[in-house]
Amino acid sequence: MCGIVGYVGPRSAQDVVVDGLRRLEYRGYDSAGIALVGEGDEVVVAKKAGKLANLEKVLADEPVEVAHTGIGHTRWATHGPPNDPNAHPHRGCASRVAVVHNGIIENFADLRARLEADDHVLVSETDTETVAHLLEMQVASGEDLTVAMQRVCQMLDGAFTLVAVDAEDPDRVVAARRNSPLVVGVGEGEMFLGSDVAAFIEHTREALELGQDQVVTLTREGVEVTDFAGRPAEATRYHVDWDLSAAEKDGHDWFMRKEIFEQPRAVADSLLGRRTREGLLQLDEMRLSDDEVRSIDKIIIIAAGTSFYAGLVAKYAIEHWCRVPVEVELSSEFRYRDPILDYSTLVVAISQSGETADTLQAIRHARAQRSKVLAICNTNGSTIPRESDAVIYTHAGPEIGVASTKGFLTQLVACYLLALYVAQVKGTRFGDEIAEILQQLEAMPDHIQSVLDGAEQVYDLARQHVDTKSVLFLGRHAGYPVALEGALKLKEIAYLHAEGFAAGELKHGPIALIEQDLPVLCVVPPRGRDQLHEKMLSGIQEVRARGARTICLAEAGDERIRPYADELVALPQVPVLLQPLVSVVPLQLFACELATALGHDVDQPRNLAKSVTVE
Ligand code: G6P
Repeated sequence: MCGIVGYVGPRSAQDVVVDGLRRLEYRGYDSAGIALVGEGDEVVVAKKAGKLANLEKVLADEPVEVAHTGIGHTRWATHGPPNDPNAHPHRGCASRVAVVHNGIIENFADLRARLEADDHVLVSETDTETVAHLLEMQVASGEDLTVAMQRVCQMLDGAFTLVAVDAEDPDRVVAARRNSPLVVGVGEGEMFLGSDVAAFIEHTREALELGQDQVVTLTREGVEVTDFAGRPAEATRYHVDWDLSAAEKDGHDWFMRKEIFEQPRAVADSLLGRRTREGLLQLDEMRLSDDEVRSIDKIIIIAAGTSFYAGLVAKYAIEHWCRVPVEVELSSEFRYRDPILDYSTLVVAISQSGETADTLQAIRHARAQRSKVLAICNTNGSTIPRESDAVIYTHAGPEIGVASTKGFLTQLVACYLLALYVAQVKGTRFGDEIAEILQQLEAMPDHIQSVLDGAEQVYDLARQHVDTKSVLFLGRHAGYPVALEGALKLKEIAYLHAEGFAAGELKHGPIALIEQDLPVLCVVPPRGRDQLHEKMLSGIQEVRARGARTICLAEAGDERIRPYADELVALPQVPVLLQPLVSVVPLQLFACELATALGHDVDQPRNLAKSVTVE
């Protein structure tokens, strides 16, 4: 939520910052702006409401002087509507300091009242502008920008990443972070800042992960890190193992479509290197002993959005393989119901970005109650895995499309691995059973590829539905979360009314929604589970008898479904618990193509942001 970029070095700061913002635009696109420090005694700011393209037009129409130090911001609005004055960067009264911010400053109303009482004129409705004024007061009193930032951070409550420049100190960029993401890119004679590494990956793959409550000062020569009190602090250096091509579209019209087609690789990568030489499963980071794992008597999975649906699938796998009860809860609800937690509860936090504020606060609550936390995350160096006791990283690579696709599939893989790991340690499954499931998982990339090879059929179906106002999705068992995820994808990018239901629940209410020709997408379980399959067929017959147009996703060779399917999309034959890995793919393709046909911006749907770092 909000993308932040900073640069100091020999290049044109405008070019580096605008390119960085382009790669971070998925984090918010309500407005964009840059601040450059050149020869003059004021910081030069250009900013514009709307997408980055609007800012680029301003810069083309009114070019600014070349500068070598700059910061930039792409906004997902919290305080104040998305207009030009509220766009970042914000400046103090003298335009000497400019600042960009991601997060929410909770005590901004007090700070603002105090500034206004001292005759400061604030021109926006944002919480951020108060910081610009406070920083400017500090530098005007003779402090350097680093000390100014340390002092101001001590006055702030809430979550923030701040990046600032001072017109009278042109070779310095200073940033701070608390509960909000920020990484440093280390170049030769140049330094970068970004909300994530995509901002600078074309220039350097060497990065520094900042800790909580740290201030970082960037000059061409190097980086200095302190805490808010000015004491020297450590930041962890790491090498980014993907390159620029991973953050580009590769000939696809949308990042989302590219990411859907990357899923066979993403799933294969997420399975790599999981076994020791002795054939035992291992996790990436494990600060839990086998005894602690054995003592787990309840698992609570917390997550938001698509990650929550991955958690719902995990419940079926963990309970079946490990015989441990599992609750799945929305992160935003978790803390407020006063959950019953203790040292024998394992809390599993699923988050693609590793920065979702609701999930982060939920894990902090869980740890305060002495529960252990395991994170499933796609972003190295992000906050949620850093604050967890154990981590399984997914290897989806950067996910840029706001609607999650490969993030979801790789989360499913991680959930299966977690379930098998717990089963291994607790001994609820024999080693050969675990090995067999792992083999089935290893066959999944080819199965996913075979679904992708049939994309044209799904695209045709999607294009037939451009006039549809409502779509329902039905599923049972592990197919139920898939139905929910299929509906979410349509809401997110096609802006259609879409709902997912457990097929058995239909007759208790939702069946009243069925009217002539209403499209109903049905996720049919494999036939291995005869009861499930039969029950699903009944549900499908019920909606069809009432006029629905049924689009059924069923395994190849399932002849029983044929009479009830107006359209049939064949899925590969796979075990029932693993079926979500293939059955969700046509639903992703359907949403992507329908949104495209409707003329929507698939990668940047209205009102959404990829990484939601406010509660
Ligand atoms: C946002 C995104 C969703 C995502 C959710 C959870 O709402 O738009 O696509 O599923 O956040 O994000 P996380 O990074 O925690 O998985």
